[in-house]
Amino acid sequence: MEKLSPKDRIIFPLDLPSKDEALGFVRLLKGHVGVFKVGLELFVSSGPPVVEAIKKEAPEAKVFLDMKFHDIPETVGRAVASAASLGVDFITVHCDSGRGLLEAVARRAGKVKVLGVTLLTSLSGNDLGDMGIAPELRDPGALVLHRARIAKLAGLGGVVCSGLEVKKVKETFGKNFIAVTPGIRFSTQDIGTAKKDDQKRIASPYEAVRDGADYIVVGRPIRDASDPVEAASLIAKEIEKATSKAGW
Ligand code: C5P
Repeated sequence: MEKLSPKDRIIFPLDLPSKDEALGFVRLLKGHVGVFKVGLELFVSSGPPVVEAIKKEAPEAKVFLDMKFHDIPETVGRAVASAASLGVDFITVHCDSGRGLLEAVARRAGKVKVLGVTLLTSLSGNDLGDMGIAPELRDPGALVLHRARIAKLAGLGGVVCSGLEVKKVKETFGKNFIAVTPGIRFSTQDIGTAKKDDQKRIASPYEAVRDGADYIVVGRPIRDASDPVEAASLIAKEIEKATSKAGW
């Protein structure tokens, strides 16, 4: 893993309806976060030109195209090759898409880091029965570890997992297997407004990074803060505390 500064570890999702609004946040937050994430909402509304525009506005930042691909191996393999040609740094696929798909993706990704989504942080143990998951894997910790193992065997660069599982993932699969942690919330509601929302398996920036997260995804706590730059700076400070305590 390359050496990352505290701000480099912050992934800001551009969960916004238009290219103009997204670029407004890129302008505001460049230099304060390391990665801009383009998700479904923005890519569906604005398409590949938004990726180019972000790279132009913030050439130092990385771009994460978070499509969470899930289809047959040939279709996803081709989509991944297309995504790679946009020059993005990270892309995502769902780990439960089958080993054949993950291997096809790993083969076609080129220099792009492919991350496997293990289990969405909006899901809890109660949802797993509805999803048809076997009783012995209904513990999110066990399921995440199982899926991370498949991702590693297939040759992916890392996984997306919650702060509750990241420690075990890093201990089991090593420091070069990237862990990205969303579902970041503060115990005190001093940043952002997201008190009651869809995230269930949550951790603070300090806890996630202390436990080994290489990157954290922080959306609403920055986007909805009265001062997004200040929110990002406070998060970077928490990350700094965690990395200096851990000695890295
Ligand atoms: O911090 P907040 O909850 O607003 O972050 C939402 C973002 O996190 C969305 O862009 C969503 O796609 C992303 N996310 C993710 N993986 C998960 C859960 C959320 O990338 N498991």
